[in-house]
Amino acid sequence: MSQFDLVVIGSGPGGYVAAIKAAQLGLKVALVEKDATLGGTCLNVGCIPSKALLHSTEVWHLAREGKKHGLQGAEKLTFDVAAMMANKDKVVAQLNKGVEFLTTKRGIEIVRGLGRLGKPGQVLVRGASGDRTLDTKNILIATGSSPIELPFMKFDGETVISSDQGIALPSVPERMVVVGAGAIGLELGSVWARLGSQVTVVEMLTSICGPAYDPDVAKAAQGAFEKQGIKFELGAKVTGVKKSAAGVALTAERDGKVLEFPANRILVAVGRKANTTGLGAVEAGLKLDERGRIVIDGHFKTNLPGVYAIGDVVAGPMLAHKAEEEGVACAENIAGKHGHVNYAVIPGVVYTDPEVACVGMSETEAKAKGVEVKVGKFQLQGNGRAIASDATTGLIKVIADAKTDKVLGVQMVGRGTSEMIAAACAHMEYGGSAEDVARTCFAHPTISESFKEAAMAVSKSSIHSL
Ligand code: NAI
Repeated sequence: MSQFDLVVIGSGPGGYVAAIKAAQLGLKVALVEKDATLGGTCLNVGCIPSKALLHSTEVWHLAREGKKHGLQGAEKLTFDVAAMMANKDKVVAQLNKGVEFLTTKRGIEIVRGLGRLGKPGQVLVRGASGDRTLDTKNILIATGSSPIELPFMKFDGETVISSDQGIALPSVPERMVVVGAGAIGLELGSVWARLGSQVTVVEMLTSICGPAYDPDVAKAAQGAFEKQGIKFELGAKVTGVKKSAAGVALTAERDGKVLEFPANRILVAVGRKANTTGLGAVEAGLKLDERGRIVIDGHFKTNLPGVYAIGDVVAGPMLAHKAEEEGVACAENIAGKHGHVNYAVIPGVVYTDPEVACVGMSETEAKAKGVEVKVGKFQLQGNGRAIASDATTGLIKVIADAKTDKVLGVQMVGRGTSEMIAAACAHMEYGGSAEDVARTCFAHPTISESFKEAAMAVSKSSIHSL
């Protein structure tokens, strides 16, 4: 007889949310976690600690500009990296407790240890206090991902570091070279640049923020980061690391030329890989794709009966909120309901200053797919609240279907756009048109009005720009 209806392996945002949803739907659930704390990468070494550090360094950055707001002595301010780290750890600990509270209060059994697939209908857990076999009707694998290591420059935790160490450095490196201009590279590059490190970002592609963003949007963000002192070396493929007079130097190649970037720390942020090691995937016959991700069908089912997978360990954007949506839908399916994820409306955000956010199709993608579009843009320089708040860097871009006016995508650069993109998601979820956005009443004065103005610009009817 099964002890559980569902055993979830991995307590990240995908796994713990799926466990809660399943418990809400009346299933008897166990949540298996190998780490000491719940919450996975996002909560322990990813989204949350990086946001705490981004906030602390933003406070520092803004406080130093205090003179123009009448604050005295701003130029004499100093900072304490250890205190910033302690604040970050406190934030993480509070949320660790929160996840434990939310899960255990719903009757979910937390099982500590490394979970692996056993015989059909079994999960074997190897924990500090011994081994345990969990009998279950269903298994959900939500084991997440870990940083990709470049084969020619392995992580040593000191000079060549991953984001795990990048959020926990004891002091500000004089020179930091970041490999990869994706979300992690830009966010952690910003943290250390704000604290005075000379940061150079070396990126293989010719634009930053990844392929989801249009070149004009990525350029606007790059210009803002360059003003903050971050240097970009685009179109440069990293080849290795060598000893130099200053310590080490990253070597790269561009158009056949060899480039060298001296550094005290090299942060490698070139993507993440699915975690299936230790899961007993091969022994159980679990099907993986060419990138080591678990293969699932449209209902999160793997090739093994009763075994499901979601989040970073399967294909798709490696984002906490994508994993959460999948967790809810998968739990609903297991409980006999009809869970669904709308993959056309999954926002992406880079939490820098300005923040860079997008949802849906870019103009580039629409054109590549042969979709005829109309585009409206609004520069934040024309927004009253942005002027009053020193936040005029950036723009909003709305991409609408030329025939139906339906909003296909929205891209944003600007302070607070991580919050603003939610309005775009809601409009798109309901199939809204650019005119629907333009005719929605937005509070004044808010930077969000720029989204409305960009939607009006789709039909060349913006009020606050020509
Ligand atoms: P990423 O895939 O977003 O970006 C990696 C970048 O490195 C790419 O632009 C790629 O062209 C470049 N690159 C790869 N190999 C290179 C080489 N040899 N030399 C130079 N450049 C090279 O990966 P990232 O930033 O490590 O993030 C990993 C995952 O975590 C992503 O899926 C990301 O979306 C997610 N994430 C999301 C966050 C957010 O939503 N704010 C924050 C942190 C991570």
